[in-house]
Amino acid sequence: MLNTLTLTAFCVSALCALASARTQLTDGTAGKIIEGPGFTTMGALQWQSSGVLWDGCTDSAAHPINISTCFALQLSADPTKNLQDDSSDSPRQRIEFLTAGAADGTSWSYQWKYYLSSQTGTTNHFFHLMQILTRGGSGGPVITLNAAAGKVAIQDTVRGCPAAGCPSIALNEFTDRTTTHSMTVTYGPSGSVKYTVKDSATSKTLLTYSATGSMGTESTSLKFGTYRLAVAGMTVSLAAVGDFSEKKL
Ligand SMILES: *[C@@H]1O[C@H](CO)[C@@H](O)[C@H](O)[C@H]1NC(C)=O
Repeated sequence: MLNTLTLTAFCVSALCALASARTQLTDGTAGKIIEGPGFTTMGALQWQSSGVLWDGCTDSAAHPINISTCFALQLSADPTKNLQDDSSDSPRQRIEFLTAGAADGTSWSYQWKYYLSSQTGTTNHFFHLMQILTRGGSGGPVITLNAAAGKVAIQDTVRGCPAAGCPSIALNEFTDRTTTHSMTVTYGPSGSVKYTVKDSATSKTLLTYSATGSMGTESTSLKFGTYRLAVAGMTVSLAAVGDFSEKKL
């Protein structure tokens, strides 16, 4: 997926027109985060990107991406490229989609699809594929789906995972397949979350996690995409996301 070779091979079929019609939204050279057109244009989502972001995905015959409204996300293996802040001593690359900040006590259900290419490796540093991000208090992630050290794992910053035994799967059980992510969440100090990741083709549950208690304060959003510390030795990151829906409960 997503590389020039695959694209060229794919262009023998009628789908070539579709593949080449995709639109580049950011080219990764700004050295800062570019923001998308906002919640009015993008429905319930906004995007932020310091990497290479496309509206439209290039499929591959070996591992087709089953996402209809699809965005392709690419981050460079070069830790000096696609950075959200060129001058930071904690260099980070970020392409994320996010929901509008929600108030405490509100409940939502979300669904989205996610595809991570097996060309994407992990390091021992953070690489968030999903986060519940709060802006109140000291701010930061509450729950994350993190890819590190060859695993994809839930982390619960508030309740102390992984010490408490958060679920994880091997990276290669997550890559090269479309996954369906479902979440029901109530934000705020008396909150709750139920999050499930399934293989879209087989409906097999890959990961599931539930928790009650603090789920952010004041303004909290769901974010998903690729957000990582940029370090020497990392791989390229290739992902696709889309088919997002949200419902206020
Ligand atoms: C693609 O996704 C749809 C649901 O979104 C599912 O019904 C279908 O089985 C999937 N197709 C494949 C080939 O995985």
